[in-house]
Amino acid sequence: MIGTKVEEAKNLLVEGKVVAIPTETVYGLAANAFKLEAVARIFEVKNRPNFNPLIVHVASLAEAKKLTQNFPDDALKLAEAFWPGPLTLLLPKNQLINDLVTAQSPLVAIRVPNHPLTLQLLQSVDFPLVAPSANPYQFLSPTSAMHIEHQLGNKIDYILDGGDCKTGIESTIVGFENNQVIIYRIGSLTRDKIEKVLNKTTRLNSNSEKHLPGNQKIHYAPSKKFFLGNIPQLLGVFKNKKLGVLSFEKSYKANNIALNKVLSPEGNLNEAATNLFNYLHQLNNADVDAIIAEKAPNQGLGFAINDRLERAAG
Ligand code: TXA
Ligand code: MG
Repeated sequence: MIGTKVEEAKNLLVEGKVVAIPTETVYGLAANAFKLEAVARIFEVKNRPNFNPLIVHVASLAEAKKLTQNFPDDALKLAEAFWPGPLTLLLPKNQLINDLVTAQSPLVAIRVPNHPLTLQLLQSVDFPLVAPSANPYQFLSPTSAMHIEHQLGNKIDYILDGGDCKTGIESTIVGFENNQVIIYRIGSLTRDKIEKVLNKTTRLNSNSEKHLPGNQKIHYAPSKKFFLGNIPQLLGVFKNKKLGVLSFEKSYKANNIALNKVLSPEGNLNEAATNLFNYLHQLNNADVDAIIAEKAPNQGLGFAINDRLERAAG
């Protein structure tokens, strides 16, 4: 069921049920982080392997501190600058966080999401919420309640509808090792903003020497065939196929294009990020044989957009 009642979402979560919740990045599939059956149900609903850990969502920095052993100075600076917001911190967990949540890792991923309904919900309960993105394993992330209704509607008890997600790309995941700041997943908080606040350089680890389970090469993928490259060239290659086209700022015309979605006609990266998953869902649901797409410029949010496009292409 889709609705806007925080109270209803709260009651279901207290009972140990699974509820989809809005955030500024993408929708999450939430459960009581302190109730193991509820946490286990998340893996089941998403069809997610249990070696892939879950992000914990809390109402404030103070609540995050209660779940961790310590907060390095850099983590504190980032939390103060960017929470509530699209920043996830990887920190040493304490015994309140069960190994099932972190997939046996001593580190927990935590963030304070920036959405009024979900903040209200988090403030009303006395437990944190685990919430991976509310999509079946490896499929496109949802940025609206309808995306979830289509993908998981029959498996979950409630979708708290908070409208379309404002930033549209997942949070940036940041960890700390020997005084170094490491970006494990580039997301809607850009690397420059992080470096500016810390006044130091960061290391990008998105294709991991260290194992980050969510960084598989295939991820965020549509079910249709998906090709990333130069659109005029791809149009030539697939001239006998009915195509969906995802372009950055130009629109394309050809007889075999059934649908062309333009991420931002003005070439604005924020707008492009907000539209990305929504347009991928639309293209995937359209009557097309394949989807072709081009990258955004490699700057600012463009890195996160291109990361998602590359993983969609596998
Ligand atoms: O914006 C977001 O982060 C959204 C919203 C709902 O908050 N959540 C999200 O969750 O994107 P998910 O599960 O789709 O992606 C979280 C990533 C996964 O790649 C997971 O492997 C990684 O974070 N992760 C979670 N906990 C971790 C941990 N303890 N250590 C290492 N990686 C972790
Ligand atoms: Mg995800």
